[in-house]
Amino acid sequence: MTEDKRAPTVEMVEITKRFPGVLANDRVNFSVTQGEIHGLLGENGAGKSVLMSILYGLYRPDSGQIYLHGAPVQINNPAKAIGLKIGMVHQHFMLIPNMTVAENVVLGFEPPGLVLRSRDISSRVAQFAAAAKIKIDPNAMIEALPLGTRQRVEILKILYRQADVLILDEPTSVLTPQGIDDLFTSLRALRDQGKTIIFIAHKLKEILSICDRATVLRRGKTIGTVEISRTDENELTEMMIGSKMVPTRRAKKASNGKLILQGEEITAINDRGVVALTGASFQLHAGEILGIAGIEGNGQTELVEVLTGLRRPTSGKIMLNGVDLAGISPKAALDHGVRHIPEDRHQRGIVLDFSVMENLILGDHEQPLFKGFLSQLKYRFIRRFVDQRIDEFQIQTPNRETVTRSLSGGNQQRVVVARIFNRELTLVIAAQPTRGLDVKAAEYVRRKLIELSDQGVAVLLVSADLDEVMALSDRIIVIFNGKLTATSDRPTRRELGLLMLGETKDRS
Ligand SMILES: Nc1ncnc2c1ncn2[C@@H]1O[C@H](COP(=O)(O)OP(=O)(O)OP(=O)(O)O)[C@@H](O)[C@H]1O
Ligand SMILES: [Mg+2]
Repeated sequence: MTEDKRAPTVEMVEITKRFPGVLANDRVNFSVTQGEIHGLLGENGAGKSVLMSILYGLYRPDSGQIYLHGAPVQINNPAKAIGLKIGMVHQHFMLIPNMTVAENVVLGFEPPGLVLRSRDISSRVAQFAAAAKIKIDPNAMIEALPLGTRQRVEILKILYRQADVLILDEPTSVLTPQGIDDLFTSLRALRDQGKTIIFIAHKLKEILSICDRATVLRRGKTIGTVEISRTDENELTEMMIGSKMVPTRRAKKASNGKLILQGEEITAINDRGVVALTGASFQLHAGEILGIAGIEGNGQTELVEVLTGLRRPTSGKIMLNGVDLAGISPKAALDHGVRHIPEDRHQRGIVLDFSVMENLILGDHEQPLFKGFLSQLKYRFIRRFVDQRIDEFQIQTPNRETVTRSLSGGNQQRVVVARIFNRELTLVIAAQPTRGLDVKAAEYVRRKLIELSDQGVAVLLVSADLDEVMALSDRIIVIFNGKLTATSDRPTRRELGLLMLGETKDRS
């Protein structure tokens, strides 16, 4: 009967979850039906990850009830969730680096009483991958795989555990446009096989293109659930933030600022000893935003590392106001006014176990800004400074002493971004600066980058988000296979797309 098919698979009723100083979920109602892709969206800190962690048994709700196929269930831990065929892919993957894809997938779920040969394991995993339209080599070592591919392994893992309900928390934030297309192909295939998918994302275009329905949370409360075929970006934005949004676009400027940064024939090798950057030359002027567009893994990470002192180039020069930065230490780069919004905030951006206050002044506490105060006075000054930052960047935290780990993903990113404004700067290297931010926060960061460039700071923007690169940059350079190619004055999406795939006309 059709009614039965539409009956909720999972129903979360009046779920409330409190943390010290935070009401993360406030009598939330959320339900998904079998065979749908259901979007879950809302601003940073709205309560999405907490709600899904409750469904996956990582947190216990203070009150409320979960029903599975109409029957009440207690999900006290992830093992229970898996037993109930609910699986979750987190933003931070949990795979064993020096094992193969197939070994990671079956680990802990080997068929009992049977010793499988590795060839059998990989052919089994290959079957699962094929059924889910997931492109992967079962014999590849995890450590050799880029993030986007590791995500596929995580998805395979929960499929192998027979999950019928798949929770994906911001899966697209680590993916390139091509990776997103591939993921969507898999998700559609899985939905058509009757799986239920809960998909968290900040990009409304993604929600609109992949979901059947979507639920919006705001400040821990359910705002509503809509059919995707009957909604649009405006309505969803309004449900999320309570008002409309005007996207930031930058009026293009002719560059007449002073030359700040000049890369000359930079060559670098990556961690695996492979050449990642070859003969990279470019110029960046004061007040200019230079966009670097490219598919992840084409050398942009190494370029950023070379410019920030995190990687020594094998040859070439990096002249910043006449000083060669090649092989300089990260601290020295900082002292020359180079600030960095790192793409991997957990690895380089923040110390999760430090307080918000400590992270907001990390590495800068000896700065002139804070110097010359006696320690009592200095601490009072720092506390005031930190509170201002929290206020200005709307970092949602109970207070400045809160441990950064307990902040929502987007709020951790705000801490990273806020910190670059601590010092006098010459050059900002912004790598995926709006990754994980909600629409409002992303617009805020974009406006801040424009503001910086208007003050004469040179900005290098590295982003996988073509819309973002096109909206902000004065000039765009495409990186492909370690080589830089300048684009025409006003490149179209198509031109950029082709260059990003290496389909370049010979310009020499
Ligand atoms: N373990 C925790 N301890 C204390 N507070 C927490 C904890 N986990 C989450 N919170 C708080 O609960 C609120 C909701 O967080 P949640 O992670 O669900 O947000 P989110 O909607 O996923 O946001 P984002 O888009 O930034 O990922 C936030 O204010 C967050 O700081
Ligand atoms: Mg989250």
